[in-house]
Amino acid sequence: MKIIIEENYEKMSRVAANILLGKMYQQKRVNLAITAGSTPIKMYEYLVSDVKNKSYLDNVHYYNFDEIPFKQRKGYGVTMTNLTNLFFKPADIPESQIHPLDENNYKTQDKRIEQDGGLDLILLGIGADGHYCGNLPGTTKFENLTSYVGENATENMKDILLSEVGGDENERPDFYVTMGPKSVMQAKEIVLFATGKKKAAIIKRAFFGPITNEVPASLLQTHPNITIVLDKDAASELH
Ligand code: GLP
Repeated sequence: MKIIIEENYEKMSRVAANILLGKMYQQKRVNLAITAGSTPIKMYEYLVSDVKNKSYLDNVHYYNFDEIPFKQRKGYGVTMTNLTNLFFKPADIPESQIHPLDENNYKTQDKRIEQDGGLDLILLGIGADGHYCGNLPGTTKFENLTSYVGENATENMKDILLSEVGGDENERPDFYVTMGPKSVMQAKEIVLFATGKKKAAIIKRAFFGPITNEVPASLLQTHPNITIVLDKDAASELH
């Protein structure tokens, strides 16, 4: 496990963008699974100007690792909408390089990725409860591949699904899909990044505490090629 601690959010975001960018420069297909959420906002800003109009990066293929569908709205769910707005659209990434995971194809996600040559890198955020992708405590287990998580999976799942769609009851789905721990562990490289004091306690617990399903991200400690990129605040509980 490698840990990189940067002075602030901007520098942390630059480092994460550089790691991704460095992966892209290959003479072969490169498969990246990338995260939505608020943490990557700055990183995508950097990455958009790094990759836009660079046709020689057409070897890079992008995957989302979870999706929360809108109940009524057709088309992309929460994750792909977010990734499209933050990155795919401003960077003009052609559709042929984007491979959406959704409720219709989640059962074949692991097979598809395997057939595409596997993930070269997966970029993850982390929730204050220790989740990554949609692997929340009490939902998936370490042995699970890409999974369907229903609204009754945990006591507060209905509330979580509601907040994911911005509090709009009409759009609250009754499930989401996510790559499971076993799917994520198959990536050749993992980068997990976090910013702010609100992530400090979980960073310590997930990466310096016991490996347990109660803290889903704790499994990632065992990955042979994982880099954790933090700003000072997120690293503030580490010694
Ligand atoms: C959501 C996403 C996760 C992400 C997490 C943290 O649950 N599905 O992939 O890691 O949020 O988000 P943020 O970066 O906004 O703290």
